[in-house]
Amino acid sequence: MRRPIVAGNWKMHTDLASAVALAKAVRAELADESAVDVVLIPPFPFLAAVAEAVAGSPVGVGAQDCRAESAGAYTGDVSPPMIASTGAAFCVVGHSERREYHAETNAGCNAKIRALLAANLTPIYCVGERLDVREADGTLDLVETQVRAGLDGLSAAEAVKLVLAYEPVWAIGTGKVATPKQAQEVHAHIRSVLTDLFGADTADAVRVQYGGSVKADNARELLTRPDIDGALVGGASLRAFDFASIVRAVRP
Ligand code: 13P
Repeated sequence: MRRPIVAGNWKMHTDLASAVALAKAVRAELADESAVDVVLIPPFPFLAAVAEAVAGSPVGVGAQDCRAESAGAYTGDVSPPMIASTGAAFCVVGHSERREYHAETNAGCNAKIRALLAANLTPIYCVGERLDVREADGTLDLVETQVRAGLDGLSAAEAVKLVLAYEPVWAIGTGKVATPKQAQEVHAHIRSVLTDLFGADTADAVRVQYGGSVKADNARELLTRPDIDGALVGGASLRAFDFASIVRAVRP
């Protein structure tokens, strides 16, 4: 059985005080959570403070991006060891907003995933199609390409440590949710690609989240599909009660 994982991607929202307040409010809501992995993903400057605010609770912390190198002359960038030193244990890779606004490639994501694993961090690797691709019936092929290229060269022992997130771009921040059937179809395809790459045991163990306009009131019907193992939540993760309601909705 895969343990569900629900992560809140705060994107470029909050400031130091409101980030800490939100983290404490989530901690209070989910102080006894034992069935679902819960992760808060604040902006970089608030990572350490958020990690401190949830320390000793079931709530974990992750970063929104990283650079593949460990250190060097890369002004403005943040490395996996830096992220690990804040107490964070997760890092998003290849979010569609990074792919769009920072020209991130699948090969670049692959380098980041390797660097994160080397730093003992859990990558949350995002894949997903834009609306034009879905309308041209290219979703499964595109997602397959993203998965194969992003995980290129990984061993099964490494792959099992990953989390994947299927986020159809047209569903992000739009209020347009994939239907449970649409989401399950892509998740099942991702798992078949993982089976081809790493074997059935590994594919069975890797968690694949859904992301894109997940809310408290649609979480249960979406997230209880067989190959959907939780959610990567944007907007609704900025309100502690709503986010906690999504976590409660995916409890097995
Ligand atoms: P929304 O939940 O706001 O659609 O954002 C999804 C997302 O991009 C999470 O990474």
